Amino acid sequence: MRVGVAKEIKSDEYRVALTPAGARELVQGGHEVFIEHDAGEGSAFPDSLYEAEGAQIVGVDDVWADVDLLLKVKEPIPAEYDRLREELVLFTYLHLAADGGLTSALIDSGISAVAYETVETSNNALPLLAPMSEIAGRLAAQAGAYFLEKPLGGRGLLLGGVPGVAPGKVVVIGGGMVGYNAALIALGLGADVTIIERSIDRMRRLEEVLGARVTLLMSSSLQIEESLADADVVIGAVLIPGALAPKLVTRAMVAGMKNGSVVADVAIDQGGCLETSRPTTHSEPVYVIEGVTHYCVANMPGAVPVTATKALTNATLPYVEAIADQGLVQAVAADPALARGVNVLEGKLTYEAVAEAHGLEFAPLEDVIPLSPV
Ligand SMILES: NC(=O)c1ccc[n+]([C@@H]2O[C@H](COP(=O)([O-])OP(=O)(O)OC[C@H]3O[C@@H](n4cnc5c(N)ncnc54)[C@H](O)[C@@H]3O)[C@@H](O)[C@H]2O)c1
Repeated sequence: MRVGVAKEIKSDEYRVALTPAGARELVQGGHEVFIEHDAGEGSAFPDSLYEAEGAQIVGVDDVWADVDLLLKVKEPIPAEYDRLREELVLFTYLHLAADGGLTSALIDSGISAVAYETVETSNNALPLLAPMSEIAGRLAAQAGAYFLEKPLGGRGLLLGGVPGVAPGKVVVIGGGMVGYNAALIALGLGADVTIIERSIDRMRRLEEVLGARVTLLMSSSLQIEESLADADVVIGAVLIPGALAPKLVTRAMVAGMKNGSVVADVAIDQGGCLETSRPTTHSEPVYVIEGVTHYCVANMPGAVPVTATKALTNATLPYVEAIADQGLVQAVAADPALARGVNVLEGKLTYEAVAEAHGLEFAPLEDVIPLSPV
């Protein structure tokens, strides 16, 4: 197969969808690999490293037009919509439930698009979201601590406190991959950490791993309101796979928070779990509403591309190899986890939650291709 890797053009995005190590694996597997000029530059992978592994360096037009499978990190932005086309398989993060414009552009183009974030194993794990969630959760705790500093508009509180002075309070809403990692780093900084979850099984697991160091509370509107009133940092980390994030925090709850406190809404890529959240970028990461600093960067791992590129490609490469070796239809038929990743197949919308989010026609994948193992 001809496998292309496009350079990311979204603001402040420095990751790349394939490392030189991944390029070598694909080339050794008999595939042709085309890397857009400078695609790896932001992750400290110059073109020469890919060329050394047998990949070819090409321009932007060629990488989109001349390949069978195109690898990206972030969803196509409007400037790229004209490049979407029939017979191309696009493998990238898509987050379509929060983006009606892109959903329509994909359908209209006749492309097949597989979303990293909805690849889902039989035990409901999200193997291609997990590495970025680990990074985003850890960064969210760091951002919370940082924006509490007075010169940055914060309350002027050291999150970990010092002997004789109480630490700050961190409330994490959603105790999944992002929430666990945020809690881990907040605990490491010495903060007083509470996780609000709706799954009792998940809370049992968190207690096993984190022990008595965290307070675990059942999610409800009242609990969230009460916990927020006392918090210095709030981290939004809920997810309903493929769907828009539930707006668990109202503007009134934000108004009830302390002046100069910080919210980091990591779930912003699914629309955010606060009514007051809107996406921000690394160049302008925060804004203030009701005296509360909002950090809502939609591509947080983009800030640490050297770590994030390796973590992402470690997870995606086996799926990339499966698609390249077998073709999308065979690979999907053989692997139900990959099948869950297919959001658009040849212009048909095959992911139910996305169809629901935009009121569009849903075409079940099993009606479009056979799904039993071949
Ligand atoms: N901004 C970024 O750069 C970035 C990076 C990675 C992930 N994310 C996003 O972070 C979010 C969380 O991802 P994740 O990997 O941790 O997901 P996850 O599935 O591992 O965890 C989500 C958790 O939310 C819990 N939850 C669902 N509804 C809830 C409710 N009403 N109250 C409390 N908890 C609830 C679930 O039980 C689950 O434990 C997703 O939206 C993901 O897309 C953003």
